[in-house]
Amino acid sequence: MTTAPPRFTEALVDFDTRLFREKFDREPFLIQHRLPGHPLFELERIMELTRSLPADRVEYNAGDVPITLDPKVTPRTGLSAEETIRRIEECRSWLVLKNVESDPEYSALLRDCLSPMQSIIPDMHYFEAFVFVSSPGSITPFHIDPECNFLLQVRGSKFVRMYPRDNAAILTEQELERFYAGASRNLTCRDEEGTTSRLFELLPGQGLHFPVTMPHWVKNGPEVSVSFSVTFRTSASDRREILYRINHHLRRTGLAPRPVGQSPWIDQMKFTSFDTIRRVRRLLGSKPEPDRRGY
Ligand SMILES: [Fe+2]
Repeated sequence: MTTAPPRFTEALVDFDTRLFREKFDREPFLIQHRLPGHPLFELERIMELTRSLPADRVEYNAGDVPITLDPKVTPRTGLSAEETIRRIEECRSWLVLKNVESDPEYSALLRDCLSPMQSIIPDMHYFEAFVFVSSPGSITPFHIDPECNFLLQVRGSKFVRMYPRDNAAILTEQELERFYAGASRNLTCRDEEGTTSRLFELLPGQGLHFPVTMPHWVKNGPEVSVSFSVTFRTSASDRREILYRINHHLRRTGLAPRPVGQSPWIDQMKFTSFDTIRRVRRLLGSKPEPDRRGY
């Protein structure tokens, strides 16, 4: 039997459409892109972006940290964000600029990166973009994120260790419930050897898909790394978030809720009840709850 060659879109990002449809939000997979050398990722331009963002949209920490890290004890370096970027080669740090779509140039780039996917995922919404700058060998600890994410490697390399999200020995229902209720994204890694994981090496021009809440940790390669994360939500990711928040609430009242995904009928009943309450609250003029943001 012959296999048809993969079909690629003609755009800033390239991907095998068949593979994309098969794996999106189920499994990690690689795509290609044309961002290496793009002027928006020169360090001088990133420093300019840093100066323009509100302080709470700029996070930077020591990158010489363990895989399991309590965010309350995350070590700081004593450097400013700009100094961190200027000295990124030797300061052993990790910096993220959040919601860079507030800058029109990065917003246009986010749109250009995601537009080829829109025909496959018509319910994409709530678009956000993040720029990561990291020192050689720095570590981003074990964590989960609430968005559908494509991490596009622009400069240097990264090793990403990705764990299954449906293995309770790695990620429990209670951890997911607490996360969606507002707890930290960082979690305890119970398999640092990675026996249950898949390892991806990301090189410039490659991008990796992170399904929603798929646990992972990242180690930088031997050079400075710059990457661009383009993210969005879908109806399925919104529904998943609501179901976990309902279960969190039920557990706090002393009940043992049925895990999300175990009974489609019960999930639908919970979702419909929540949706009805939300509609009634809207009619009564209550403020909507804030969206959960992560990276
Ligand atoms: Fe992440």
